[in-house]
Amino acid sequence: MNLNVISNPQAAYAQIAHWRQAGQTVGLVPTMGALHAGHISLVEQARQACDRVVTTIFVNPTQFGPNEDFSKYPRTLEGDLELLRGAKADMVFTPANDDMYPPGSSTYVLPPKVSLPLEGEFRPGHFQGVATIVLKLFHLLPASVAYFGQKDYQQCQVIKQMVDELNVPMRIEICPTVRESDGLAMSSRNRYLSAPQRQSALCLWKALQIAQSLYAAGRHSIGEIEQQMRETLLSQGAQRVDYARIVDRETLLAPSEDTDAVVALIAVHVGTTRLIDNLLLEPLGAQYSVLHTP
Ligand code: PAF
Repeated sequence: MNLNVISNPQAAYAQIAHWRQAGQTVGLVPTMGALHAGHISLVEQARQACDRVVTTIFVNPTQFGPNEDFSKYPRTLEGDLELLRGAKADMVFTPANDDMYPPGSSTYVLPPKVSLPLEGEFRPGHFQGVATIVLKLFHLLPASVAYFGQKDYQQCQVIKQMVDELNVPMRIEICPTVRESDGLAMSSRNRYLSAPQRQSALCLWKALQIAQSLYAAGRHSIGEIEQQMRETLLSQGAQRVDYARIVDRETLLAPSEDTDAVVALIAVHVGTTRLIDNLLLEPLGAQYSVLHTP
């Protein structure tokens, strides 16, 4: 089966409706392109679980702030299509900007409360843009299940809550972060890093591992562990730390007596590149991550 590249929204909708009416399950993998092994692992998980696999490639302007990297965000369509063919995706939707945002558009999704801390503080408006484009894609591409990477942990929580609260008939699957063999989480923005910055970027994974071992040891307060993460990040190569927090996995607020489980989340600047990562902290020290060996 060839990869069907569709830019027209009506044609994309018709193809998915046709598959669904024939009783086939459709897995959706929304992306902004510049695909890497993390995206491909989402396609592979969709391939295993669903009859049809659809991806989207659209660099969504509304989720970038005025001083962010929208214009220089990597656009690598030919390479992306090769990777999608290799992963046996059935269709990729590559809409034009005016199809997703007709001129004069002024309707946006107000994202749930979980969007407010962390990324919400440092990238105001970001999750409004994410929630809006994801809901639009879910309407245009009525798949059975959509796949997102845990690397964007807060994004996953925002999308899951939005889908629940707006009664969107889509199941959300969160898939483990794919890492390079030295622990760096795969990200389209890694290609901005020079060789020395690539080395410095390991500070995120080091800080998360320190958080995991201190948390598992059970002798340190959350504040002490956060301080250790911050010190590790700054001493091992980050120029600036936006946040290094341990929070409730559901609310993304400081843990309370109702908290069942926590997650450590980090955002730092390495050179001019902003990187994020996270780890679900386990009391017994188990770590959930996929190491990718190139
Ligand atoms: O995670 C991403 O690549 C984007 O935020 C998404 C979900 C495709 C929306 O533009």
